[in-house]
Amino acid sequence: MPKYTKNQSVDFKNAIERVAIVGAGGTIGSHIAKALLETGRHTVTALSRKGSSNRLPDGVIVAPVDYNDETTIVAALKGQQFLIITMAPTAPRDTHSKLVQAAAKAGIPYVMPNGYGIDIDDIKLGEDTMLGPVAKANRDEIARLGMQWITVCCGFWYEYSLAGGDARFGFDFDKRSLTIYDDGNTKISTSTLSQVGRAVAKVLSLNELPEDENDKSLTLSTFLNKGVYTKSFVVSQNDIFESVKRVTGTADADWTITHEDTRKRYQDGLAQVKVGNMAGFGKMLYARGFYPDASNDLTMKAQNELLELPEESLDESTEIGINLVKELQLRVERMSS
Ligand SMILES: NC(=O)c1ccc[n+]([C@@H]2O[C@H](COP(=O)([O-])OP(=O)(O)OC[C@H]3O[C@@H](n4cnc5c(N)ncnc54)[C@H](OP(=O)(O)O)[C@@H]3O)[C@@H](O)[C@H]2O)c1
Repeated sequence: MPKYTKNQSVDFKNAIERVAIVGAGGTIGSHIAKALLETGRHTVTALSRKGSSNRLPDGVIVAPVDYNDETTIVAALKGQQFLIITMAPTAPRDTHSKLVQAAAKAGIPYVMPNGYGIDIDDIKLGEDTMLGPVAKANRDEIARLGMQWITVCCGFWYEYSLAGGDARFGFDFDKRSLTIYDDGNTKISTSTLSQVGRAVAKVLSLNELPEDENDKSLTLSTFLNKGVYTKSFVVSQNDIFESVKRVTGTADADWTITHEDTRKRYQDGLAQVKVGNMAGFGKMLYARGFYPDASNDLTMKAQNELLELPEESLDESTEIGINLVKELQLRVERMSS
């Protein structure tokens, strides 16, 4: 049954004001938390492990939690209207489920599950990258517990993937080397971290519900149990390389370039993962993402206009990515998985 404002109690306020977020000090979570705070419409509560050394953005309310003590999670989530989960891929597998179960007990109606990547409707891509079934199980659990979800489909994060080493966009800035997949001309959708942050903040700043059945305006409920699709750039590795050369003032001759077939690279990465070497995961994931079958081009689905997201500069984002290299190199365990 669709819900309308007209059917709500007199004290119903048609807005999402209280947002809880897991990972507010993390790669994507920090951008989402900052974008939410910038709207001035939300109080943002960061669920963070007791004793975590991650720095949280100024302005968030910190709620320390212990994932082995559900009462701490439920207490942190009581009274919140929306839970955003941005959890490290290295976190124990059952942590997402612990959060979702606690959210149901706390009475939270909406959850944004971990994901922030590939198109959830592309089942084959999801299966090939192993990400799809896990993300689907997370969404199904939310629904089973009587809550609704909104997930973000943004493609690879541009700056992060540029800075994150050879296994991702193929760049190693220390060695000035580049592995080009196939001919380097396959275009894929990418989103900057800040564009994802803006998109989430935009959706959560919409009215929660339409007034009545005649109200066709965009509301948060428009996105329930669906993906929010964003993009910043639809680019090939060759496009990115041109941008890197402009930003760094280098030329082809300054770079060591090798070529690799995406299908071979995918199989090599997969073989590593199968014997427990998670270093192969990124290799497998990005090689699959660059298959020349257009499966990672979200141009037709991106909702940038609907959400009034800004156009961004490729070279400025490339510069931000290059400045991120050293920071990501410090996260050895996280980046090698
Ligand atoms: N599209 C892309 O290119 C792309 C790239 C990478 C990741 N992703 C997706 O985005 C999600 C979030 O990734 P991220 O890089 O933003 O995460 P992250 O920065 O590595 O970690 C986010 C938060 O997870 C918490 N955490 C870390 N280790 C944990 C543990 N062992 N147990 C429980 N909590 C732990 C930490 O919060 P506290 O310390 O505050 O507790 C941390 O700040 C990933 O799972 C993945 O699905 C997408």
